[in-house]
Amino acid sequence: MRTSMDPHAETADRYRAFADVEARGMSECYESWAHGVAGDRATIGLINRLPPAKRQPNLVFSAARFRGASVSGYPEFAAWLAENWGDVEQVCLAHATQTNEAGRCATLVPALAGIPGPLALIEVGTSAGLCLHPDRYSYRYTLPDGSERMLHPADGPSPVVLDCAASGPVPFPEHLPEVVWRAGIDLNPLDVNDPDDVAWLEALIWPEHEDRRVRLGAALEVARAEPVEIVKGDLNAEIEALVARAPAGASVVVFHTVVLAYLNEADRRRFVATMGRLPVRWLANEGQTVVPGVMEKLVAPPTDTTNFVLSLDGEPLAFTQPHGRSLQWLDDARGV
Ligand SMILES: C[S@@+](CC[C@H](N)C(=O)[O-])C[C@H]1O[C@@H](n2cnc3c(N)ncnc32)[C@H](O)[C@@H]1O
Repeated sequence: MRTSMDPHAETADRYRAFADVEARGMSECYESWAHGVAGDRATIGLINRLPPAKRQPNLVFSAARFRGASVSGYPEFAAWLAENWGDVEQVCLAHATQTNEAGRCATLVPALAGIPGPLALIEVGTSAGLCLHPDRYSYRYTLPDGSERMLHPADGPSPVVLDCAASGPVPFPEHLPEVVWRAGIDLNPLDVNDPDDVAWLEALIWPEHEDRRVRLGAALEVARAEPVEIVKGDLNAEIEALVARAPAGASVVVFHTVVLAYLNEADRRRFVATMGRLPVRWLANEGQTVVPGVMEKLVAPPTDTTNFVLSLDGEPLAFTQPHGRSLQWLDDARGV
């Protein structure tokens, strides 16, 4: 019988779940690598030299690609990893999964545009800050009937066009929201001008997602042209002081995408309580069970278990694809 104390079985289960839930349909390469690892004692032995928090498939695979592993079948990958484990281990220890996906702005924009402006944006867990420029990207929403809805920055089309399949009663705005101030918080801000940080952001993009790689390059250009302050620190420790610095006369919106999952339950609850106390609007785009209180307000959970829930001030608004590829607005405030 296997116990929960068996680290080999735990890692195998973790990689199998990653293959079946996260990678399937998203990355053939990572699906096959993760399945391969799950059945390979020798490779699990290497991975288990890392502390448990660093054994994440996404971190290990990104670190391997950062160090030059090519997209291949599993046997070739396993051989490469055995040969280069020392390097990969160092990268895992020195880095975290900080994927920064500008495409997620496509799911935020209809909600942001519904908040009376002008807006002061604060993103907690901002990585390199690419989601802090929602007003500087163009958007192409494709509706279920195949028609398209475009939105552009006030000064004309952006070189970054974010594609999103939209369904349900999405409150499309006429214009992008006016943003008069913006700032971020991150435990480890990535620098859009640092070649190592940029290489790490590239390695975090899954192998087959060439469109995301192209978008990353273009979004980095936008961010380089418009530097934004990113406070280094823990979101719970830093948020109140940053909110106090937002300009008077603007609606302060604190938002986050794929961040609260990295916090323990007590820290999530502390953050939610702070959002209720501060004079801010709070926009969250997180996994279904991540934000305390949101899942309970849904009539029905999303049929796609990998989808996130977008919520404003704790009220669910929409289901979103993790990289912003789709947005399903809910028929009423509580569910489908
Ligand atoms: C998966 S990335 C998401 C980045 C960005 N929000 C996006 O969606 O593209 C999560 C980010 O949250 C940051 N993070 C995790 N825990 C944090 C904390 N307690 N305080 C501040 N930042 C945190 C990580 O450093 C990382 O950059």
